[in-house]
Amino acid sequence: MRSVCAACDRAFAPGPDLPLPFACACPPNGYDRVLTPRVAPPPKGWRPDDDPQPFVAWRRLLGSHALAVQHGLGDAWYVDTVRRLDAAVAAVDGAGFRQTPTAPVDVLPGVEVWAKDETGHVAGSHKARHLFGVLLHLEVARALGWIDAIPPLAIASCGNAALAAAVLARAAEQPLTVFIPPDAHPSVVTRLESLGATIQVCHRQPGEAGDPCYLRFLEAVAAGAAPFCCQGTANGLTLEGGQTLAFELAASLGDRPLDHLVVQVGGGAFGSAVVLGLRTLLDLGLLPAMPRIHTVQTHGAAPLKRAFERLKARAATEGAEPALRHAATHKADYMWPWESAPQSVATGILDDETYDWWWLCAGMLRTGGEAVVADEDTLRAARERAHAAGVRASHTGAAGLAGLMTLHAHDQVAPGARAAVVFSGVER
Ligand SMILES: Cc1ncc(COP(=O)(O)O)c(C=O)c1O
Ligand SMILES: [Zn+2]
Repeated sequence: MRSVCAACDRAFAPGPDLPLPFACACPPNGYDRVLTPRVAPPPKGWRPDDDPQPFVAWRRLLGSHALAVQHGLGDAWYVDTVRRLDAAVAAVDGAGFRQTPTAPVDVLPGVEVWAKDETGHVAGSHKARHLFGVLLHLEVARALGWIDAIPPLAIASCGNAALAAAVLARAAEQPLTVFIPPDAHPSVVTRLESLGATIQVCHRQPGEAGDPCYLRFLEAVAAGAAPFCCQGTANGLTLEGGQTLAFELAASLGDRPLDHLVVQVGGGAFGSAVVLGLRTLLDLGLLPAMPRIHTVQTHGAAPLKRAFERLKARAATEGAEPALRHAATHKADYMWPWESAPQSVATGILDDETYDWWWLCAGMLRTGGEAVVADEDTLRAARERAHAAGVRASHTGAAGLAGLMTLHAHDQVAPGARAAVVFSGVER
């Protein structure tokens, strides 16, 4: 297993001197130096195990498994560790990780829409997938003696990611600090407290650009905390577990290619992990073709749309790959924090900045996708259609459908097209 820096292209292999490749230390002019985990491909003909636990079924594609096997802990140790942690998660949250259902939903006339339903998953969203992947890396590093103990954990979030982190930290019996904004929902705060998390409320400081919670979180990481987060910029390893969602989605859809996949984007790790996961399967011959990757943000905050428009302009004169290379090393030309305090009903995708923007831009540019901005009425309608289809998704959780509806309204989805969305989080 290696982690490759998206900005400087250096590859890092974890070992005693670098137990956990969270982020690259090259000058911060690139794609925030995200270390993308890569695993040597399995032999031809490989198929996932038929196991409901995604981190068991797809372990051959995970770096934490590759390290465990390569350094002598072995496959059985890895499977035992996943099952032990999963049982602890189930004891805290009522159920452990399970491959979630993907089913056709009748939400858009004339379009075959498939929805992957994450609303019943650990802590009510897809976020726990990212963090379980990180937890496995921490466990492997500890078991190999590369670290004496797992450092205290830290995360910045006001919602689903914080809840997922708190459930997993409790299950792993590790201390966690959560950096939250003053307007975090009281029920979320209560649940975080009941799970034993330490809470730090972060106020916006005059003259400080960017999310104060994220900035305080980075300070905690600089002081030695492990970034137990859902931003690849702070911890590239978080992109790995999120890929299980893409693996499952592709497996559920079978051999007939998907025309469109629409992902809702806040910090961007979710969509980036999906793009990475699909590419992995494509390379392995386990995906017939890449769908067009579209992203959705709100009028409240659309920094990815802004970045993508700039990238497309450059690609029109230089070509896609040179433009993407430029973007990977000139972040400031494309991505910067949204200037006004973001607002929308889809509160989970209001990040000031799309931290993990590069893979999403690459996914859209290479597949002819769009950076959609959904309006508030469409976001509300999407949530209602999800509920009518029997899925109690939040506005954020149904925002992918809002993006698909927006594309459809602009005649960008052909009749009979096959499209997929992820109902990524439950309404609380
Ligand atoms: C339910 C749900 N879906 C999607 C997202 C977007 O994920 P990301 O921030 O990784 O882009 C979030 C983020 O909070 C979320 O809570
Ligand atoms: Zn680098």
